[in-house]
Amino acid sequence: MTDAEMIRHLWTHKTQNHPWLSDEDLLITRAEGVWVWTQRGKKLLDGFAGLAVVNVGHGRREIAEAIAEQTVRLAYYPTTRQFSNRPAAELAAKLARLTPGDLTYTMFAVSGSEANERAMQMARYYWLARGHASKHKVISFQGGYHGATTGTFAVCGLPHMLQAYAPLQFPGFAKVAPPYPFRDRGIGTDEELVERRAGELREAIGREGAETVSAVILEPILSSGGCIIPPLGWLRAVRSICDELEVLMIADEVITGFGRTGRWFACEHEAVVPDLMSVAKGITSGYVPLSATIARQHLADAFPEDATEENVHPNTYAGHPVACAAALANLGIMEQDGLVENAEKMGKRLLEGLQSAVGQHAIVGEVRGRGLMVCIDLVEPDGSGRPLDRKRLVEIERKAWDLGAIVFARGTAVRLAPPLCISPAEVDQLVGVVAESVDALQREITG
Ligand SMILES: Cc1ncc(COP(=O)(O)O)c(C=O)c1O
Repeated sequence: MTDAEMIRHLWTHKTQNHPWLSDEDLLITRAEGVWVWTQRGKKLLDGFAGLAVVNVGHGRREIAEAIAEQTVRLAYYPTTRQFSNRPAAELAAKLARLTPGDLTYTMFAVSGSEANERAMQMARYYWLARGHASKHKVISFQGGYHGATTGTFAVCGLPHMLQAYAPLQFPGFAKVAPPYPFRDRGIGTDEELVERRAGELREAIGREGAETVSAVILEPILSSGGCIIPPLGWLRAVRSICDELEVLMIADEVITGFGRTGRWFACEHEAVVPDLMSVAKGITSGYVPLSATIARQHLADAFPEDATEENVHPNTYAGHPVACAAALANLGIMEQDGLVENAEKMGKRLLEGLQSAVGQHAIVGEVRGRGLMVCIDLVEPDGSGRPLDRKRLVEIERKAWDLGAIVFARGTAVRLAPPLCISPAEVDQLVGVVAESVDALQREITG
C-alpha cells in the first residue's frame, strides 16, 4: 500500500489548509528541537509547535526514557477508588508548587476538553455541596474555545464551529464579548475598554441571575478566536466580578499554561488566582496526552472525604502513570533549561522583529504577542481596517511553507507559537520567513 492509499483511511479532519500539496507532502516523519521533516525530506521550522503543544521541543530523549522506564515498571493503574500511583502523586504535588496561590488539588484527564468538563463539573458540585442547587450556568466569551466535547460546546464562543450542533448545546449559557483592543479600543484607553467589557460581564451575570450562575470560564489569551490578547487588568476585573457576585472563575490555561506566555501560567501576569485552572498541551509537551484540572483548597474542601461513589466523573485514564512520568520529565526540562524565561525573551525578540519588519505594511493591522504567543492581524490594504479576505490570508501558510516554516493562518490572523526552546537565530529565521511571506502577499494584493 502506498502512503497516499493509507492516508485515505485517516480522518485528517477533512480540512484543506494546504490544497496545493498532496497528502503525502504533509506526512511528518521526524522532528528535533524546533524542526520537523516530512517523509519527502523537506525540513520546516515548526512555527506553531504542532498545535502550540511541544513546549520543550521535539525529540527529547529524557522524556522518551522516562516513558519507557515507567511503561515497564507500571504502565497502567487507575486513580479511582482511592488508588494512586507514584508519578501521578508526584506530579500533583509538583503542580501544587508551580501553580499560583492555593491551587493545590489536581484531577487528571486526557485532553484539554475533558479538563474543562471536569472544571465545570467541579464548580457545579461545589455549589451543590454549599447548598446553592440552582447554580449551574457557565458564562463564557465570544471567540473562546474550550474543547471538542458536547459539554464544552456549551461554552464555545465560535458560532461557525457549532452551527451543525446547535441542538446539542445547553440553553442559557451566555457569551460575552472579551476586550479585543485592536478591534474595539476605539478612541478610548485600554483601561476604559476593560471597564466597558467588565460592565457587560457583570450585566450578563445579572441578566441570567447570579443565583443560577456557577462559573465564568475564560482563556487568558483567546487563542482559537484569533490570538485576542486582553489588556492587563482584565483578569483582575473578572476576578473581582466573580468575587462580588459569588461566581467561580475557571481559567482555561490549556494553551497558555507551562510557559507559553513567558510565565508558568498566564494568570500570573496579573497575580490572579482562579478557583479552577485547566491545563493540557504543554504539561507533557504532547509526548503523551495528559490534562489536568487544578482546584483551590476551598473547592476541594467542599467535597466530602467519605463518598463511596465518584461525584466528579474521572475517566479510565485519569492519572495515567506513563503520561504523568512524561509530564515530570518534561517539567524537569523546562526548569533545567529555563524555558519560561526563554519564552519571555524569545517572545520579545519575535514580536519586535515582526513589528519592525512588517508592522507598517498596509495589510498589517497589528502585530501583537505575549511571550511566545504572537500573531499578525491582517487587514485589507484600503485603510478601512476590515479583516483581510480569508482566502488571501491562508496564502501566507503556502508562502511560509515554501520558504521553510509552518505557521497557522486562520480567521483574521497568522498565529505563531513555536517551541519554547527556540534560539535567537531560529527566531530570526522565523521572522525572516514570515516577513517575506507578508511582503510577497502585499505585493500580490496591491500590484
Ligand atoms: C484554550 C483551549 N482549551 C481547550 C482546548 C481543547 O483541548 P483538547 O483539544 O486537548 O481537547 C484547546 C485546544 O486547542 C484550547 O486551545
